[in-house]
Amino acid sequence: MTAAADETGQVIGRYVIYDEIAAGGMASVHLGRLKGAVGFSRTVAIKRLHPHLARDEEFSGMFLDEARLAARIRHPNVVAVLDVVHDGSELFLVMDYVQGESLSRLARAMRPGAIPPRIAVTVMAGVLHGLHAAHEATTEHGEPLNIVHRDVSPQNVMVGTDGVARVFDFGVAKASHRSQATQDGSVKGKISYMAPEQLLSEPVDRRADVYAAAVVLWEALTGERLFDGENQGRIVRMILDEPVPPPSKIVVGLPKALDEAVMRGLDRDVSRRWQSAREFAGALERCLPAAPATEVGEWVESLGGVALGARARRVKDIESRSDIFSATGPASAPEPKEATAETVLEPKIGPPTVPQAFAVMATEPADLRIVPSKPPDEPSRAPSSRGIAAAPISKPEGAPSSAKIMIKTPLAALSVQTVAVTPLASLQEAAAARRSGGRKVLVLGIALAVLGVLAVAFAVTWTLLHR
Ligand SMILES: Nc1ncnc2c1ncn2[C@@H]1O[C@H](COP(=O)(O)OP(=O)(O)O)[C@@H](O)[C@H]1O
Ligand SMILES: [Mg+2]
Repeated sequence: MTAAADETGQVIGRYVIYDEIAAGGMASVHLGRLKGAVGFSRTVAIKRLHPHLARDEEFSGMFLDEARLAARIRHPNVVAVLDVVHDGSELFLVMDYVQGESLSRLARAMRPGAIPPRIAVTVMAGVLHGLHAAHEATTEHGEPLNIVHRDVSPQNVMVGTDGVARVFDFGVAKASHRSQATQDGSVKGKISYMAPEQLLSEPVDRRADVYAAAVVLWEALTGERLFDGENQGRIVRMILDEPVPPPSKIVVGLPKALDEAVMRGLDRDVSRRWQSAREFAGALERCLPAAPATEVGEWVESLGGVALGARARRVKDIESRSDIFSATGPASAPEPKEATAETVLEPKIGPPTVPQAFAVMATEPADLRIVPSKPPDEPSRAPSSRGIAAAPISKPEGAPSSAKIMIKTPLAALSVQTVAVTPLASLQEAAAARRSGGRKVLVLGIALAVLGVLAVAFAVTWTLLHR
């Protein structure tokens, strides 16, 4: 992105992309802004897949499928995936923006020391609750999705200045592993958190995430790497065979119950491990009292330093710029390229997410897609082979009287139903009418009373005159 693009932002569909927050082998992450209808806007984080991966059909297919799964997870300890946008040859994943730092950076900032035990335990109990929500996530029909993160690591945990720990990078985790399998060496770093059964390519379930979380906690408590070596072979041998010291062997004075909880999470035998992330979280919560959110938030701020402060100022700057946009209209804002970008997931958030021409009554706007059944100048596009409803996000000329609503399932099995859709203008009129209804009744009452008085006066006068 050029410097100029950083200032004004690059427009992708309903989103404006600003400064890069981070860049990795797979994607770059940017600050962004959702520009909704009627002046609605919201700060988001936008993950931009590197173009060569976005062009890889298999990879982008998995990315989209997994992003849909991630969108089913709703929990305060999970970074919400709001949308996926396909713009030409590029793919963007839109998430809730978290003002905070990754656990890996926070841990690095603490070195050579460790994270205070109370904070480490509170952060990881939150992470485990978030993971449990993922493990328990179901389709909208209640069928288990059996989501396993597979890449739980300090890099994929954000701790916010609000004191809340959040897991992220769901969905891409599975896809990235497949992609990395062909790129020698790129798995390094993550392998240190993989459960033995995952390393051995045996079937994995939620207990692989429990194990990875235990490794993260062990490292947070000790300030050391648990499985680290000069090459991957060495790391694998350590994970599979070597004895693991309890955290209190490294940091004297840690409670015995905490040692036991961590070591049970690290058990190589899955049947002896904590059987669920929630079970593990519960054990941790019994070990130590939770650190208040204020304490965790202040800890993040104290370590985040200049970079975190600069990002907070930049967010304020972008938000005030957005307010100017909505106050002065699109003339001063970049014009959205609405016709080219394809929104794959509808946001789970707030007000209007549907094309401006329509409004639909729905209980779960996140799971609805709207395709005008007979747009006057653009044929409705059928779901793609992966089941992505290719809904135009631009406002069609004229509002049709009905629309197809596609209820998405994460497994891309779409059920379609047609419902009546009222043009937004009519609904706005109806809403306005409802709002002013009470006042109208009052005015009508007064008018009738005045008319009544006038009629009586007229009758009396007429009678007197004609006597
Ligand atoms: N939702 C978010 N809010 C704020 N920062 C984020 C968000 N998502 C990612 N980041 C930042 O981007 C970095 C890389 O994100 P990640 O999704 O893990 O990318 P990668 O594909 O390289 O693993 C994170 O360490 C964090 O600093
Ligand atoms: Mg990551």
